[in-house]
Amino acid sequence: MASPPVSSREQFNAHSARYAASEVHRHGPSLPVLLEYAAPTPEDRALDVATGTGNTAHALAPFVAEVVGLDLAEEMLAHARQRSGADGQANVHFMVGSAEALPFPDGSFTLLTSRHAPHHFLHLDRFLAEAFRVLTVGGRLVIADQISPTPAVQVWMDTYQTLRDPSHHAQRTVEAWRALAEAAGFVWTPPTLVPYRLDFAWWTAQSGCTPATVERLRAHAEGLDDTERHAAGLEYGQHGELLAHHEQMMVVRLDRP
Ligand SMILES: C[S@@+](CC[C@H](N)C(=O)[O-])C[C@H]1O[C@@H](n2cnc3c(N)ncnc32)[C@H](O)[C@@H]1O
Repeated sequence: MASPPVSSREQFNAHSARYAASEVHRHGPSLPVLLEYAAPTPEDRALDVATGTGNTAHALAPFVAEVVGLDLAEEMLAHARQRSGADGQANVHFMVGSAEALPFPDGSFTLLTSRHAPHHFLHLDRFLAEAFRVLTVGGRLVIADQISPTPAVQVWMDTYQTLRDPSHHAQRTVEAWRALAEAAGFVWTPPTLVPYRLDFAWWTAQSGCTPATVERLRAHAEGLDDTERHAAGLEYGQHGELLAHHEQMMVVRLDRP
C-alpha cells in the first residue's frame, strides 16, 4: 500500500531545528537579491509567506514598519519567534496560516515575500490570487524559489525532490511561473537566476532522509544518461559518486497594478 502523502506542516515540524541552523536558508545568496527587488521602506507593511524559521521576515524587519511571518508549521515559527525575541525585533509577528487562504482582509500589505517555499504549495494559482487580493494597489510580491530549466527536467526533478522531501510539490520553469503570475493579474519583470550548489550529503540529512531513501535517490540519478544528468545539474566525483546538484533560484518581482 502506498504511504499517505506527508504534509509540509508534518515535514517541517519534524525538521525545524535543522532549518533554524541551516546556513543555506539563513544566509543563502537569494536573500540579498530578494531584498534588493523588494526595496523595503519605512512605510511598508510586509507579509512573508511560508516564513519557516523567519529568515526573510528577520531580514526585512529593520527596513519596514511591520512584518508578519506566516507558516503552516508551528515548530518552525517557534524558532522564528525565538530569534526575533533574542534580536529585540519588536515589529515582527509570526502566525500560523496557509499561503492558499491568507487570513487577512483585502489590501492589508504593501509588500509580500515568499522565499524557498512556493514549490511546496499545492495550489500556486490560489496563492497568487490571495497575494494579489491582500496587496494594496501598487504593492509588490517578491518570490525566490527554485526552478527547473525545462519541463522535461521538471518531471525528473519533481520525483527526485519528492523522494527527498515528500512535501515537495512542483519545481516549475520560469515560463510556467510567468503564465501563472500574469493569469493572477501581476505585472511580470525579468527575474534574476541565482545559482545554488546543494551538497548531496547535506541536502539529504537536512530533510531527514533514511539510508534507504538516500539509496533510492542515487538509483533515480543512475537512471539518467550523461546528457540528462548535465541538464538536471547533477555533479559527480572522480569515482562516479553523486556529490551535489546545481539549481537556479529564481528571484522575481511581481507588481500588483
Ligand atoms: C524551506 S522552508 C522556508 C524557508 C524560509 N522562507 C526562508 O527564507 O528561510 C519552507 C516552509 O514553507 C512552509 N509551507 C509549505 N507550504 C505552505 C503553505 N501552503 N502555507 C504556508 N506555509 C507553507 C513550510 O511549513 C516551511 O516552513
